[in-house]
Amino acid sequence: MGLLDGKKGLVFGIANDRSIAWHVAKTLMDAGATCGFAYMPGAKNLHRVKTCLEAGGITDAWLNACDATKDEDLDATFEAAREKYDTIDFLIHSIAYADRVYLKPGKFTETPRDVFAQALDISAYTLIAMANRARKMMPHGGSIIGMTYYGSQKVFPGYNVMGVAKAALEANSRYLASELGQQGIRVNTISAGPLKTLSAMAVGGVEEIFEWVEKKSPLRRNVEAEEVGKTALYLISDLSSGVTGENIFVDSGYNIAGL
Ligand SMILES: NC(=O)c1ccc[n+]([C@@H]2O[C@H](COP(=O)([O-])OP(=O)(O)OC[C@H]3O[C@@H](n4cnc5c(N)ncnc54)[C@H](O)[C@@H]3O)[C@@H](O)[C@H]2O)c1
Repeated sequence: MGLLDGKKGLVFGIANDRSIAWHVAKTLMDAGATCGFAYMPGAKNLHRVKTCLEAGGITDAWLNACDATKDEDLDATFEAAREKYDTIDFLIHSIAYADRVYLKPGKFTETPRDVFAQALDISAYTLIAMANRARKMMPHGGSIIGMTYYGSQKVFPGYNVMGVAKAALEANSRYLASELGQQGIRVNTISAGPLKTLSAMAVGGVEEIFEWVEKKSPLRRNVEAEEVGKTALYLISDLSSGVTGENIFVDSGYNIAGL
């Protein structure tokens, strides 16, 4: 018996086998869940996602191209998911984007309006857009997770506009949790420590962050993506049935360190 036997859900955000979304999906599937996947449109992206899934032994995945900035793509993805699965039990939001030109130490003050709007749209608004569509497929309740980072609360030079977007994502999660709780839908965020993914490598100064976590976190090491997956398993499963609107750090305890 797996913890998630019979549970179905959608996972947004696999770019390759380093993606947090992949490690989360793998953990959920190992526990018995069925995952459908939405990926950023483009032949190269499709190839990367397929390569990742096939290397993980998944050859019959349900895959749907979806640019989350486009309402028509989101509508089509959730409609296709309804046809495939009828209902779902969970949603993983593991997407973010900001123009890397402004993800460098000293560049925050120069953030242009369009760069700000795009980062907030893709990295924060889309959680609302997805939750609104997912709830209509969750008649028996469900669990929604967004991925955030400590740069929402403290300054990490280089994280810049992404920190602002993560603060908005975390607030979105609380407001969604408040409204969707009455339908039995829980909404939480996981605040992962730094992981070497495509997105993370766009952040200026990220190498220094890895070094500091190793030196200063209580566990004296960086986290593994599998550890984010295990916390996602807890949040999707019935083990966390009383937990909503929370932000759970999976960061070797780095966020508690003062000195
Ligand atoms: N890697 C880290 O250190 C770290 C730490 C904490 C939180 N996070 C967060 O985890 C999440 C996943 O990032 P990751 O580190 O796995 O990197 P990643 O690059 O593997 O994944 C980011 C995903 O976002 C997708 N995306 C970007 N714009 C999109 C759009 N318009 N529509 C649909 N998808 C879009 C990309 O295609 C990609 O699949 C992000 O929210 C990120 O901010 C990452």
